[in-house]
This record gives sequence, C-alpha cells and structure tokens, in this order.
Amino acid sequence: MSEVREGNGAPLPGSPLNKVVLASNNAGKLREFAALLGAAGIELIAQGELGVPEAEEPHPTFVENALTKARHAATLTGLPALADDSGLCVRALRGSPGVYSARYAQLAGGEKSDAANNARLVSALQGESDRRAYYYCVLALVRHADDPEPLIAEGRWHGEILDAPRGSHGFGYDPYFFLPSLNASAAELEPAVKNASSHRAIALRQLLVRLTEEA
Ligand code: IMP
Repeated sequence: MSEVREGNGAPLPGSPLNKVVLASNNAGKLREFAALLGAAGIELIAQGELGVPEAEEPHPTFVENALTKARHAATLTGLPALADDSGLCVRALRGSPGVYSARYAQLAGGEKSDAANNARLVSALQGESDRRAYYYCVLALVRHADDPEPLIAEGRWHGEILDAPRGSHGFGYDPYFFLPSLNASAAELEPAVKNASSHRAIALRQLLVRLTEEA
C-alpha cells in the first residue's frame, strides 16, 4: 500500500504503487488496464472485488468525474486508485455528447442504450458535412484519497462519424466511428487492434510515462 506523508498529504517520493484498485467493474477495462500496468509491476484489483459500489458521475468535465471515482475507491479501500472517464466528442455538435455519452439518448427522453444513443447521434448529424469527432479518455490515479497531486493522463482518438453502421465488435458508438487511417470503423477492428490504438490505450501509455518519471 502507498505510504502517506504528514503535512500536505502528498506521497513520499518513490512510495510504492504496487497494488492499485480500479474504480470500475468493467471486465474489459480491467483486462486492458491490467495488461499494460502489469508490465510496470502494478497489480490491479477491480473495486467490486473489494465491495466498492459504483460512484456517481455528476460533473460536467471528464477529469472531475474520473477524480471523483478514484477518490471514492481510495476512500473505501485505503488503496491507491485508478479511474477513467471517457466519451465521444463531435466537432459539429460542439463537443457533444461528450461527458454525457452514456446517457445521450436518455437526456432527450429516450432509453439508456447504445442503439438509442447512436440513433440520436445519426439524427443530430443529418445533413452535416463536418463529420470530425474523437473519443476522449482521461485517467486519474490517486495514491490516497486526499492526494493533492493526482496523476492525470489523457488520450484522444480521432475519427469521423458515419451515417450507417459498420462492423460488429466493440460497444457504444464504435459502429459509427470511422478511422480514415485504418479504413475501418472501430467496430470493424479486431479487439486487440482497437485496444492498442484507442483513446484508453493512448491515455494509459501517457500514464505509464508519468509513473516512470515518478519512480
Ligand atoms: P465510460 O467512461 O466507460 O463511462 O464511457 C462513457 C461512454 O462513452 C460509454 O457509455 C460510450 O457511450 C462512450 N464510449 C467511451 N469509450 C468508448 C469506446 O471505446 N467505444 C464506444 N463508445 C465509447
């Protein structure tokens, strides 16, 4: 467990981050994050295994939500905690659905489902020629609940929004998210390819650099 310094609550230099709780119960994320962080000697434990319930995500920014989730898990477990928050940001919609990506259709009176979210997205972009968008992911790692210097990392994965779905892998907006450089939608990519190039992968690699700088 990470040691805690007296005074401003910052960690001791070089305090070990060898066991970290992941503030998510998503098995796919746990696998993805554990693979990369394992290489840095960090063991990741899903918060559900430690009896931690999902935290609310009430904030208008990704980073606030990620920090809230990480602090929540650190408070309840006494362990360092890692959280992510992500969403789809569409240029012609001035960044929407953004932080509300999971609830995009629900906020317009629809159901909370990928199909309803995608239907709202396609309809919002009908007739729009600017199809640019990116997936955004922010990661927040707190060494303890009151850590005043959380490690923050972010990733953007740039693409374009299609008006008809392609592919059957992935989740969320993936069938409508086209990567010109790969000539495929995110849902047409093999999971291993998506996991190596996605917004989460970019953010995780940045986090690993930060962790190495700290060591
Ligand atoms: P969360 O950060 O896991 O809560 O994700 C928020 C929402 O953003 C998801 O419910 C999806 O709608 C969207 N999203 C985030 N990452 C992806 C992705 O890799 N593919 C598809 N949709 C995503």
